[in-house]
Amino acid sequence: MTSRPPSPSGAPLVGHTVGYARDQFGFVRRSALDCGDVFLADLLGFGEVCYLTHPAGFERVLSTDREAFGRSDVFTVAFGEGLLAVEDSRWATQRSRLEDFFSPGRIRSYAAEMVALTERRTDRWTDGETLSLLGEATALTLEIICSTLFGRRLDPDGGRALRRAAADLNAWFTPTSLVLPRSVPTPSRRRFERARTTLRAQLRDLIDERAAGQRGNDLLSALVAASDAEGGDDGEGGHPSAETDGTDALSETAIVDQLVTLLFAGHETTALALTYAFYELGSDRRVRHRFHGELDEVLGGECPTPGDVSALSVTERIVTEALRLYPPAHTIPRVATRDVRIDGYRVPAGTRTHLAVHSVHRDERFYDDPLAFRPARWREAGPESKGYAYVPFGAGPRTCIGRRFALLEAILVLATIGQDYRLVPQEPLELDPRMSTQPAGDVPITLRERRPS
Ligand code: HEM
Repeated sequence: MTSRPPSPSGAPLVGHTVGYARDQFGFVRRSALDCGDVFLADLLGFGEVCYLTHPAGFERVLSTDREAFGRSDVFTVAFGEGLLAVEDSRWATQRSRLEDFFSPGRIRSYAAEMVALTERRTDRWTDGETLSLLGEATALTLEIICSTLFGRRLDPDGGRALRRAAADLNAWFTPTSLVLPRSVPTPSRRRFERARTTLRAQLRDLIDERAAGQRGNDLLSALVAASDAEGGDDGEGGHPSAETDGTDALSETAIVDQLVTLLFAGHETTALALTYAFYELGSDRRVRHRFHGELDEVLGGECPTPGDVSALSVTERIVTEALRLYPPAHTIPRVATRDVRIDGYRVPAGTRTHLAVHSVHRDERFYDDPLAFRPARWREAGPESKGYAYVPFGAGPRTCIGRRFALLEAILVLATIGQDYRLVPQEPLELDPRMSTQPAGDVPITLRERRPS
């Protein structure tokens, strides 16, 4: 008979809630050192959560035994029936419906717009100005998603309600909210509810506009066309029948869920990757020197194109390393659907199981000098060489559908901005993990113009 995984010591009633809410990453790291790579934490709002802190456990959950691990209901709260939240045949139908928009050819076709929107934003910058790096990166990646996938160019000063609501969706995932019972209406939960309502209303307007007007070649047009073709009405907005009835039909609610999912999953993760990459570039003169040298040699002052990307290897390694040291998705959550044995322990059906990506990415068993930002570590062998010890985009069939999109976007944005500016951080970086790996503040940077040498 196998035993339950061990638990770190905790206080009666509140279990590990206080340590977790105070310092989530430190709590996971310390607990793994005390208990090993499989341990149970007792968190008030969640109950028992089984943490995995070894790539072998990740492989079991994401690939080998993936049928034994389902989606966490945390996703459903925010994303309804969107791709991140659904399972089984509904997931397969949705994934294949979206896959075409993330094919290598499609992704390349988004490149010119990614660069144009980056230049539109940097044209507004002036030498010596101090800005929020996180704010600029988030505004830009939202503009890129809206334009490339939804066929809607946001005004750089407009779309305030949409921008605010997209940011506030994270409010559900503050550590204190996560550990308190669902029924407690914390201020961040109220903010989340308001954000969800606003975002859904905004996206509904976008769908109605598209349904009534011209269709383009973008993902939103394709979803609206699929709903027209499939017929019916979900009673919420005059559009066709619900995907939730078990058929392949697409309701307006289902389209909204998909748009919320893509908007959220597709912009703030990349904004975080850019924020951390620029922060590190601003802090490390040697890495910055190599980066600027590459841009000057490969681009010579011209805009980057997809054809340049294979020659921008230093830039690519900077992105790879930023995603290692600061994985935007610091934890991948699942729920065991049957009893599973991991590392000799029994994880009972129903147990929330969290893959501690941040912890593995910073573990000296898998990386030399793991806390140092060293893009050169990827010079001899790329991230594939690390197997399940490098999973910023997850792995297995549910790996990130937007991986190629995000990598191209991050390389093009870094290259476009890096040609014209050096970003000088004004404060030390601190992390404040929510659903994603957020910085504690808005990461102020001062802009310094540069010319290709
Ligand atoms: C640096 C940027 C990004 C990071 C770090 C990231 C990370 C992830 C991770 C870890 C997963 C797997 C979650 C799981 O297994 O539970 C995931 C899934 C997903 N991502 Fe991304 N992502 C990024 C960019 C994007 C972009 C640009 C898009 C869309 C435009 C996107 C859309 C999605 C979707 C829809 C899923 C669900 C896939 C499925 O379940 O089949 N992501 N992402």
